[in-house]
This record gives sequence, C-alpha cells and structure tokens, in this order.
Amino acid sequence: MSLYVKQLNPNACRTYLVGAEGSDQAVLIDPVLDHLDDYRELVSGEGLSLIRVIDTHTHADHISGAAALKDMLDCSYLMHEAAPARCAETRVAGGDTLELLGEQVQVLHTPGHTRDSICLVCPRWVFTGDTLFLDDGGAGRDDLPGGDPGEHWESLRKLEALPEDLIVLPAHDYRGRQPSALKRQRSSNPHLKPRSREEFVRYLEDLRLGPADWMKDVLKANYACARDPRAAWIPVDTPACEVKGTLDTGVNEIQVMAITVPELKSRLKAGEKPLLLDVREEHELHGELGHLEGIRHIPIGHLAHRLDELGEAADRDIVTVCRSGARAHTAAQILRQAGFPRVSVLEGGMIAWKLQWP
Ligand SMILES: [Fe+2]
Repeated sequence: MSLYVKQLNPNACRTYLVGAEGSDQAVLIDPVLDHLDDYRELVSGEGLSLIRVIDTHTHADHISGAAALKDMLDCSYLMHEAAPARCAETRVAGGDTLELLGEQVQVLHTPGHTRDSICLVCPRWVFTGDTLFLDDGGAGRDDLPGGDPGEHWESLRKLEALPEDLIVLPAHDYRGRQPSALKRQRSSNPHLKPRSREEFVRYLEDLRLGPADWMKDVLKANYACARDPRAAWIPVDTPACEVKGTLDTGVNEIQVMAITVPELKSRLKAGEKPLLLDVREEHELHGELGHLEGIRHIPIGHLAHRLDELGEAADRDIVTVCRSGARAHTAAQILRQAGFPRVSVLEGGMIAWKLQWP
C-alpha cells in the first residue's frame, strides 16, 4: 500500500494526516488541541477511521490534541518511551521499526529539543518534529527543560545519514516555507552546516534564549495529558519554537521596512492608498481591536498559497497588519520573498493603532 500525507492546520504548528491508498485507516502526527473539530470533520468527511495519533515530542508551544483524540475516537497514542505523558500508552525507542498502515517506518530517537523527540523515517518522507525545520528556520530550540544542544547535534548527524531525497516534514513552520528534500536542507539549513559539536553548542548558547514562562506551563499541561485548551495560556503571535538560522549561510532574512501608526495615519490623510493587508484570523477582525477600513484580509497561514490574489498590488505599497506586528512581519517576509517590492509592517499592529487613535 502506498502512503499519502496531508498537511493540516492554518497556522505555524504542522499536523499531518497519513493515509494509505485503498485503505480507510489514517494516522495523525502532532495534532493540536485547538483544531480537534477540524480533524474530526476531515476524518469523517473522507470516510476515514483514525487508528493512531503520534506526538513527535512533548510540545511547549501548544497543547497536544492527542489525549483528547484518543478518548474520543478510541485510537492508540504513540510517543517515545521517555515521554512523561502517561496517556501515551504505545511507546517506541530509537531503532524500532513501526508498522504504519502497512509500511515499515523507522524510529530515530533524536533528543536535543526535548529528551523524548523522535523522527519517523518513511519510504518517501521523514517526519522531523522539531529536530529539523525547513531552510533558514533551522530547528527547534534547545533551551527548554530537557533540551540539550549537544544531543541535538548528535541527532542531526542521524538525519544526515538518511537518504538525501527524503522530504523533510517538520512540526513547525512560521514563514510559509515549503517542504523539500534533505539534500536541499544540507545547503539551506544552518543547523546542518558542517561544524563540530562544540561549535554548534556555542552557537546556540550565544543566542541566549530563555524559555518564556508560558512555555513551561504548556509543557506541564502536556505532561498531564490536558484535554482543555484553557489548561495553559498561549500567545498567538509568537514563533516560539524556532531558533532562526543566524549563522553565515548565505540564507538571510530579507529586511522589511516598518511604518509607525502616526506615519500611516498621515499618509492615509494625505490621500495615499496603500494596500492594507490584515493577516489575522477572521474572528480577530471582529474582536475588541477591530480592523482598519478597506483592508484586504488573508490569514497568515493562507498567505503563501494565495499570493496570486495580490497580483494587482505588485506595484503598490503594501502595509501588513496583525495584532502586535509579529505575524505582519512574517507576512512581509513572505511577500518580499515572492517579489513584492514595497512592503512595510505596521509597527505594533492593531494594539498600537488602538492606543493611538484618534
Ligand atoms: Fe517543540
């Protein structure tokens, strides 16, 4: 049987549905509690039966949907044997071979981001969790409880030893990057830059990241198999798990301009008509911060796939807008990389707008 994969979720956490041609069985990898209804709709809409959920590691930026799905759909829940979540009753270790919908899948134990991180090596893809992201996204951070940069370096060597045509499917992407082969990652991903263990550890230590307290709360919620989205507070705008590639790899972030609220106001007053691109979720437009007049709305998770809708704006000034500026920055990067020349980010987002209005 031949496996297929669908990438789910509109935001930066990536969940994958794995199915097999000619079978009604499916597996979800790294489900997010907030999207449970979407998964259930998808699975029943396609006449599938969810037989297993897998977490590639204990997540620190979202509450896993695996425990709740296990309860609701009576499927099995698989994690590495070191995972603290007791509700994950199926355990694997590095070197195990897992039968996934008729295919043999190799389990790699890849500690570093967390102690319980695994990568799953399928015939055509490798699910890398937070052990390896795409391109300049680098990989997941190693400064959370249980993280270890030296172990991460060793885990990356295991990935490097895999066939180079495997497609990398990570648990996160914050900037609309598209999956590509390990071969490409060898040249585009700073985490795979050849360097010694010591150099790698020094690089990460020099970043001086500190885990936000909310991430420790999310870890605890996942240790306890939380089924309630309110079990931990999670900010919406933060690319929390990503250690951006900042080494000299030739893959650099494109600089984007910022525009302040007073500047934007005076330009609007002067009759200028920049395209105001709001990249928040639909419900946020109708929340207490409201939205600007005449906006174009494309949520950040959809932007990379809907760029052709902005074709007529190729020569216009575009101002990207979100709640605080973080998603708008990501949106501006996506637009600049796609060739839109005049893009700026509304500094401080709608929060700043609201504070400085009228
Ligand atoms: Fe993670």
